[in-house]
Amino acid sequence: MEIVTRADRPDLDEQAAVVFRERWPEFIFHDDVPKKYLARVEQFFSRYDIMVLDDEGAVVAGGWGVPLAWSGKTEDLPSGYDDAMVQAVEGHEAGTPPTTLSFMAAAVSSKHDKRGLATTVLSGLTQRAREDGLTHVIAPLRPTWKHRYPLVPMAEYAGWTRADGLSVDPWIRTHQRMGARILAPAARSMVIEGTVAEWESWTEMAFPVTGDYVVPDALNLVHIDRETDRGSYVEENLWVQHA
Ligand SMILES: CC(C)(COP(=O)(O)OP(=O)(O)OC[C@H]1O[C@@H](n2cnc3c(N)ncnc32)[C@H](O)[C@@H]1OP(=O)(O)O)[C@@H](O)C(=O)NCCC(=O)NCCS
Repeated sequence: MEIVTRADRPDLDEQAAVVFRERWPEFIFHDDVPKKYLARVEQFFSRYDIMVLDDEGAVVAGGWGVPLAWSGKTEDLPSGYDDAMVQAVEGHEAGTPPTTLSFMAAAVSSKHDKRGLATTVLSGLTQRAREDGLTHVIAPLRPTWKHRYPLVPMAEYAGWTRADGLSVDPWIRTHQRMGARILAPAARSMVIEGTVAEWESWTEMAFPVTGDYVVPDALNLVHIDRETDRGSYVEENLWVQHA
């Protein structure tokens, strides 16, 4: 097993894209903030964009994060994923020294699930943050079972625990086992807007009337307005802080 950055191994871009792409619903790729900022994230923060290779050199997992200037106070957290990306890029451009690494995404090739590879990715990123003198490590988590409960607010979901005290959610548990604690819901983590036809193509669903819809893999409801021809989705995530 070896950890490399994507900048070191551009030859693996396509393989990594397959591993990442297969694991997310199509609508996630239509958030306007990454469209505007992701090229600069790749340019400025390639040190925090890593891949795990198996013994044959194939990409089996990956993850990335962004450095930003957070005070350490819950009330000063970015509003979520989009805002963390904006703050990191704009902070870097303004020359503001970062204090914190925010994990932004991690993915494991589906053939290699449940082997703790996500922990390898998160530990690799944390080690880099520590080497660079960053004090805090946080993440606006996208809990992997939350899509099963789109009517439940994140604040309530985050409190659902098993008999052992850990979360009912497998992805929150992975972070808790690494020593992370829950800080607060990230209320406007990702905002995705499109026409009704775009939403129908992203979700392979029909939205014949105005209203709120349960959509596969969406953590919250998608609001469709036929009169203005808009679909909008505000995804709530969960801020956690690593020890
Ligand atoms: C979330 C993800 C990164 C976890 O990777 P992983 O290396 O399998 O994580 P772990 O081995 O630590 O497993 C974590 C927990 O999830 C469970 N799990 C992992 N894959 C699973 C699967 N396919 N089906 C059911 N449970 C699964 C594990 O059993 C474990 O639960 P436990 O507490 O009962 O042991 C991986 O499933 C993934 O890439 N998912 C899609 C992308 C995503 O949602 N990323 C997170 C948001 S950024």
